[in-house]
Amino acid sequence: MTRIIHINNQNENYAIKVCAGIIKNGGTVVFPTETVYGLGADAFNPGACSKIFIAKNRPADNPLIVHISNMKMLDQVAYIDDGLRKKMENIWPSPLTLLLKKKESIPDIVSAGLDTVCVRFPDNKIALELIDASGPIAAPSANISTRPSIVDSETAVEELDGRVDAIIDAGRVRYGVESTILDCTAEPYRLLRAGAFSVEDIESIIGKIYVDPLAKGYNQSDVALTPGLKYRHYAPSKKLFLIENEEEFKKFISSEVSKDFMVLCSKENEKYASGESIVLGGDIYEIAHNLFYDFRYLDNSGKLYGVIQAFPETGIGLAVMNRIRKASFMIVKDKENIDKIYRVINE
Ligand code: TXA
Ligand code: MG
Repeated sequence: MTRIIHINNQNENYAIKVCAGIIKNGGTVVFPTETVYGLGADAFNPGACSKIFIAKNRPADNPLIVHISNMKMLDQVAYIDDGLRKKMENIWPSPLTLLLKKKESIPDIVSAGLDTVCVRFPDNKIALELIDASGPIAAPSANISTRPSIVDSETAVEELDGRVDAIIDAGRVRYGVESTILDCTAEPYRLLRAGAFSVEDIESIIGKIYVDPLAKGYNQSDVALTPGLKYRHYAPSKKLFLIENEEEFKKFISSEVSKDFMVLCSKENEKYASGESIVLGGDIYEIAHNLFYDFRYLDNSGKLYGVIQAFPETGIGLAVMNRIRKASFMIVKDKENIDKIYRVINE
């Protein structure tokens, strides 16, 4: 049975104690972070961590992030050089996750047999109190594998009730996209995943990093178009079409055929939609905040398809576009390929 634990000012200490108890006894707890909800277990307990993989239906070769709440815990789980450590003392807590060489204490199931571990010091009061009370917590995003990450407690309950020991109900998260992952095992450091902490901010504090073109979310074989489900992540179950060219997007959503689509767009573009639309937001932070939430709204709507616009890839926009591209059934970059959308829906 899953305990749903509502947190308020009165019961916070007690609630945290209960959840930390569950973790220490080898159980699983869904908890909020500033990015998305996580599904956590004691990072030092392989049996407990195996429950995460079962609950999420996650392949065993996909390693987990270890969450810490102070620098002493960092030393329990990973090696870090002094220079970087000093910088991180000023940067953490924040949504910047580091890939580091792991210590012996981290079981194979957490690192998927690799000699590295992702370490994250989240900037969320409940998460920090929980980790303080339980020790390092291994936690991936709380969604079932391949589904959009979970950004609110209602969705956490809908998706995970019966699959975990407890779910902390703490409302909506702050950012809505996952943490940025930076590989610090070799120089120059490399961006492994675009996220809530911007590349611009990393470079202003840590220095120049290597950003692979794939950070934008296209896959290896991508040219003009990405059909098929093989590489989808974070995905709604409805087919989502991304039209990257803004003029083509506006034209498409004002056409008659777009009425079969749920339109996901900025506040500014709402006026062009001839059918039903979801306004993701007026600025890129709002759009990030609503993205996964609205993917799920699309799934619960009566529409068969979704169509979404592109956004500028600066700041958190890089992560937003990475998630949109990975979630898309088809990416249409230019005018010539618009017809391919019609082909899919007429199949
Ligand atoms: O914001 C976040 O980072 C959220 C919250 C819950 O903290 N967590 C999260 O975890 O997004 P997850 O498991 O959904 O994504 C972590 C990513 C995965 O793609 C995983 O493959 C990668 O990090 N990863 C973890 N450990 C790794 C390692 N040792 N080497 C390479 N990649 C690793
Ligand atoms: Mg995830």
